[in-house]
Amino acid sequence: MGPSAGEQARCGGFRRSPERGPSCSVRSLEGAVVVVVGASGGMGTAIAAELRTRGAVVLGAGRSGPDIVLDIRDSRAGDALVRGALGLQGRLDGVVVAAGVVAFGQLSDTDEVTIEELFLTNAVGPMWLIRSVLPTLAASRGFLAALTGVVAELPVAKMVPYSASKAALSHALAGVRREVRRDGVAVIDVRPPHTETGLATRPLEGSAPALPRGLDPAAVARRVVEAIEAGEDEVPAAAFGAARSA
Ligand SMILES: NC(=O)c1ccc[n+]([C@@H]2O[C@H](COP(=O)([O-])OP(=O)(O)OC[C@H]3O[C@@H](n4cnc5c(N)ncnc54)[C@H](OP(=O)(O)O)[C@@H]3O)[C@@H](O)[C@H]2O)c1
Repeated sequence: MGPSAGEQARCGGFRRSPERGPSCSVRSLEGAVVVVVGASGGMGTAIAAELRTRGAVVLGAGRSGPDIVLDIRDSRAGDALVRGALGLQGRLDGVVVAAGVVAFGQLSDTDEVTIEELFLTNAVGPMWLIRSVLPTLAASRGFLAALTGVVAELPVAKMVPYSASKAALSHALAGVRREVRRDGVAVIDVRPPHTETGLATRPLEGSAPALPRGLDPAAVARRVVEAIEAGEDEVPAAAFGAARSA
């Protein structure tokens, strides 16, 4: 028996899982069309690979494509994403926002353009994009997952605008989740700790402090995709414990 309308509304476009009981659900990714924004990055590459192993049809989006060319700082990027997914695959079931930039240094030493750029790429751009893709995700009872980060939970000295931009996006995701729950769209805030993608070696400004070894991107990606399948609302930093030992 399929889920009731109430269960579907609560759980997004999920099928009920017999193992998890009547109030929980599971999403099958088999054949789902998912766009990964930031597909060229360490996280984006690993998440795309993990999605594919679970049967999803993945389209990569970013400044260099490969499937959909967009710049997340452009307010029309979300329209390009929807056009690309519908044009290439005829549907859109999920979006993973894995694009982002970082910078290091005391706030008082940080260039004003860097602060603007961090907010544009990490918070304002994703919000523009989410706003544009939601109607299409509502039609497919799809999902939206975005990588914010541990800094959204606990701001880090010498990473103040980065932390604040991620906290802004995390807050936006929590609010949007409430707005679209009745439409059956799942919204997932993913807050991984430091992960070995090389992001820290590509700052807009400053240089990274000595960091302990980060998590394995493939293990983080596994946890992210498990959260999508299981219908989790968020994956807090503490939930990545297993990825640490991977
Ligand atoms: N690595 C970590 O420790 C860690 C921890 C928590 C959260 N995160 C978050 O996870 C996300 C992915 O990070 P990562 O570690 O995978 O870093 P990464 O390897 O440097 O990848 C960053 C991605 O963002 C894309 N990007 C940057 N600016 C863009 C723009 N204006 N428009 C479209 N795409 C843009 C890059 O594409 P281009 O090829 O166009 O540059 C690249 O695909 C970021 O939001 C980051 O803050 C990372």
